[in-house]
Amino acid sequence: MTGPLIRARHMQAIQPFRVMELLARAKKMEADGRSVIHMEVGEPDFETPRPVIDAGIQALREGRTHYTPAVGDMSLRNTISQYYLDRFDTHVDADRILITPGASGALQLALSVLVNPGDEVVLADPGYPCNRNLLYLLGAIPVAVNVCPDTGFQITVELLKQVWTDSIRVVLLASPSNPTGTLISKAGMASIIEFARGKGAIVIIDEIYQGLVYDVEGFTALELSGDIFVINSFSKYFGMTGWRVGWVIMPRQYVDDMDKLAQNLYLAASTPAQVAALAAFKPGTLEILEERRGIFQHRRDYLVPALQGLGFGIPQIPRGAFYIYADCSGLTDNSFQFCQDVLEQTGVAITPGLDFGDNRPERYVRFAYTTGQSQLEEAVDRLRTFIQS
Ligand SMILES: Cc1ncc(COP(=O)(O)O)c(C=O)c1O
Repeated sequence: MTGPLIRARHMQAIQPFRVMELLARAKKMEADGRSVIHMEVGEPDFETPRPVIDAGIQALREGRTHYTPAVGDMSLRNTISQYYLDRFDTHVDADRILITPGASGALQLALSVLVNPGDEVVLADPGYPCNRNLLYLLGAIPVAVNVCPDTGFQITVELLKQVWTDSIRVVLLASPSNPTGTLISKAGMASIIEFARGKGAIVIIDEIYQGLVYDVEGFTALELSGDIFVINSFSKYFGMTGWRVGWVIMPRQYVDDMDKLAQNLYLAASTPAQVAALAAFKPGTLEILEERRGIFQHRRDYLVPALQGLGFGIPQIPRGAFYIYADCSGLTDNSFQFCQDVLEQTGVAITPGLDFGDNRPERYVRFAYTTGQSQLEEAVDRLRTFIQS
């Protein structure tokens, strides 16, 4: 006999990732001996840089296994502060930096501190799907802005004006974006921050893919304003997804609330992971990371024209992250079915647009170039055969 099912109302709104069905199928195919090329995975294929692994092992050996303060290890906060100075010539006081369990922890903290049930939060569609679900958990209301190739799949002030209501408290941006890999320009960012401030709202910028930018000079929104929340993480550029460390930089007046909430939500981020993360900023590690950035760029430069040659539309060349959000409407009118068919018939796993929102998702698929060059070439060959058949 099973007990009663007690289920919070918000659980109805929270959607699972559709790609999980595809992933389960891909795993089954692999177990059956089929070759699968994974282009659905949103994490670097590279292992964590060796100096970071060594620092993590040493941390464990030295017994760095107790809690840190909820705001994080002081030397890591200082090191991140120095990083902003060295890399972006921007001064960020260490006491405005709070270490979190990944960008996920940072997003949860920031949104929880800022919004009440019924408040509205603007976000881009397509966008990172967890944000919407976090808002449902808080009883807040996502205001999705349909973004298109003509604005680089990014929110602009003009688009904000079209959706603005008095209940909007937060504008949540991501640059580079998941799933589109597109960036917001510095001028665009400045005007959004200015607009939101004028409306009494605050901007959160997710910079988790910072560092992974191609062709252009990267920047941080902190160069523009100290009155915003900036989210970052060791997951992507630093290749530390499984370590679960990230950070958030907040305006000074939020420090106490963020600290209080961190204590209550998760006490602190993993201590050995925080100690290991110190090694992420060593010159030797940064050299490895820059080399990897070059490899990602090389893969992008191969894949964009190759996919265009197969009939995918890529109107905006992605300049960041490791994603290509490709228009497949010339090949199918149902991207979810397309992903299923491609997986079944070719063993290439990609993510359907459905996972990123409601803005014409049937038209798009996301390719992650988180696999080696020869695998990418093989994937393109298989797709060519599939499309031509
Ligand atoms: C845009 C964006 N934000 C946040 C996250 C969460 O990352 P993590 O918690 O590993 O730092 C991800 C992960 O894919 C992401 O794509």
